[in-house]
Amino acid sequence: MCGITGYIGREQAVPVLMRGLTDLAVRGYDSAGIAVLDDNAGLRLEKSEGKLERLQARLADGWSGRIGIGHTRWATHGRPADVNAHPHTDCSGKFAVVHNGIIENHQTLRNWLVKEGHQFLSETDTEVLPHLVEHFYQGNLLAAVGETIARVEGFYAVAFMSAHEPDRLVAVRRGSPLAIGLGQNAYYLASDISLVLPYTRKVYVLDDGEIAVITRDGVQVYNRDLQLVDKEILQVDWEGETAEKGGFEHFMLKEICEQPQALKNVLSGRILPDGTIKLDEVKLDVRGIRKISIVACGTAYHAGLVAKHVLETLARIPVEVDLASEFRYRNPLVDKDTLVVVISQSGETADTLVALREARKKGARILAITNVVGSSVAREADAVIFTRAGPEMAIASTKAYVTQLVGGYLLSLYLAQARGTVPVERINALVRALQHLPAQVETVLAQAPLVKQWAERLAGWEDAFFIGRGMDYVVALEGALKLKETSYLHAEAHAAGEFKHGSVALVKPGIPVIALCTQEHIREKMVNNIKAVKACGAYVTALVPEGEREMAAVADEVLYLPAIDPLWAAVLSVVPLQLLAYYTSLARGCNVDQPRNLTKSVMVE
Ligand code: M6R
Repeated sequence: MCGITGYIGREQAVPVLMRGLTDLAVRGYDSAGIAVLDDNAGLRLEKSEGKLERLQARLADGWSGRIGIGHTRWATHGRPADVNAHPHTDCSGKFAVVHNGIIENHQTLRNWLVKEGHQFLSETDTEVLPHLVEHFYQGNLLAAVGETIARVEGFYAVAFMSAHEPDRLVAVRRGSPLAIGLGQNAYYLASDISLVLPYTRKVYVLDDGEIAVITRDGVQVYNRDLQLVDKEILQVDWEGETAEKGGFEHFMLKEICEQPQALKNVLSGRILPDGTIKLDEVKLDVRGIRKISIVACGTAYHAGLVAKHVLETLARIPVEVDLASEFRYRNPLVDKDTLVVVISQSGETADTLVALREARKKGARILAITNVVGSSVAREADAVIFTRAGPEMAIASTKAYVTQLVGGYLLSLYLAQARGTVPVERINALVRALQHLPAQVETVLAQAPLVKQWAERLAGWEDAFFIGRGMDYVVALEGALKLKETSYLHAEAHAAGEFKHGSVALVKPGIPVIALCTQEHIREKMVNNIKAVKACGAYVTALVPEGEREMAAVADEVLYLPAIDPLWAAVLSVVPLQLLAYYTSLARGCNVDQPRNLTKSVMVE
C-alpha cells in the first residue's frame, strides 16, 4: 500500500519522516524515499527499492532540513525499482512530489509534456505531476498545483514541495485519504491518521478537491476554485501507543490479544442500564426500511455474512450481502427503502467506496460500520457506527473483525428494539451475553498454547479444510482466509452439508479439517458431517461449546469455547482460528505482519 508522510516544523524532518515510513511499512511496500529541503544544500532526495533499512543506509549524515516529504510505494505503474520510487522530481530538480493513487490520463499528459521538452526518468504515472507543476509555476506553488490538478484525472493524494518556496508544503486530495496533524508550530502530513498520533490528536482531514498549504505558522485549506475553506478540527481519541508493538513480537499477535479491550470499547456507552441499546449514531429513520443490503470486502465481507444471520433473526428484515467489487456490476435492486450497510476497517477500500457511491446514486440510505474516524467511508455515509478497535497495523485483520461483528450485533438489537420483533426479555438476555464477550475472549486466548501445537502439525501440510453450518460456515470462511493470507497454505471453507457434493474427493489420509460446531440447533448434523470426513481419513480438529461430549469423542482433538448464546458465537470461535493462522505462519517462516502480495488498504478496484 502506498503511504505518504510529511513534516514542517522546527525539528529535524528526517527522523519524523523515517518514523512515518516505519509506521507505513507494516502495511506493505516495495520501495521508499524521502525528500527534504536542506537548510544548506537545497532539495535533497533519497529513495530505494526494498526494505527501509536500505533507504536508511543511504541517508548520508548531515541532512539538516526542517521540512520534508516521504513515501512508501506499492508498485502499480512501473516495476519496483529505485527509479520508480517516490519522491519524483521535475527537470530542474526544484519540485518534489509524493503520490498515492492513480493518474488515469498520465499517458496523454506525458506525451504532451514530452512535446513541451520535459524529460522523464521513471515508468510511473506520478512523474507527470512534478513536470506539470514545473510547467505551470510562475512564482506561486499553490497556483501551479491548482493548474496541475485541473488537468489530472484519477484519484490521488499528493504532497508537493519546492526549493523555490522552502517554507511550505502543498497537499491535495481526490479519492485517496490525506490528513494533517496540527502540532505546536509543527504540522504532520499523513495518508493515515494513526501516523500523527505520536505528535497530536488534532487533525484536519482533507475532503476531495481540497488543497492545503502548510507552513510553520499554520494550515490554510482551499477548495478546487482556490477559495479558502473553513475547516473543522477532528479530535482523534485513539491512544498513540496502540499503533506500536508494545512488547509483542508481531502486530498480529498484539492485535489478537487486544480483542477483549476492543470489544469493551465497541460496547462502551451503547448499552443502557435497563439493557436497551443506545445507538445515537444511527440518526436514520429506520421505520421504512424494507431491505438491508450489506457491501464489504475480504474479512469485512465475512462480518457482513454474520450480520445477515443476526439481522434476519432479530430484526426480521431481508438482508443481502454483496462483495463490494461485484455490487455495482449486477445492477442491484436498491432504492430509498433500502438501508445499505457498508463495512470497512480502513474506510478507504476502493471497491467498497465505489459500492457506497453506487448505492447513493440509487437513493439508498447508507450506514457505515468502520474503524477509521475521518475515513472516506465514514464521511460519505449518512450515519456511522465506529468500531473503536484502535489502529490495526497487521495486514491480517483480527480485532477489527470482532468489533465489526459487534457493530452488526448492536445494529440488529437496535433494529429489533425499534421494530418490536423480539420480546424485551430476550433482548435483555442477549445484551447480558454481549457484555460477557470480553472476558470470554480472554478465556479463549488462554488456550493459545494448545492452538500453537495444532499449528505446528498443520504447518507441514499444503492444504486444509474448514467446515461448519450456518454461522459456523461463515466463520469457517474467515478462518480459511486468515490461514491463506498469513501462511500461504491452501485453505478452503465449505458448508459442512455441501462438502459431500464434490469437494470431499480432495480429502486424503491425515489431511487437516477444522470443524466449527457452535450452533446447537444443527449439532446432530455436524456430528454426522464430522463422522463422514473422518471416514475418508481426515484429521479433525473441532471447536465445540464447553460441556459438549459427543463431538469430543468423534473428532481427533477439540478446543472448548465458553458457553455463549449461539447468535454471538462467531466472536469466540474466530479467535482460535486467528491464533491458528498466526502460529502456522510462524512455523512456516512467513512474514506474519506483511504477507506477500497484500496491502492493508486496497485502494484500487
Ligand atoms: O479496510 P477494509 O475492511 O475495507 O478491508 C477489506 C479487506 O481488504 C480486508 O479485510 C482484507 O481481506 C484483510 N487482509 C483480511 O485480513
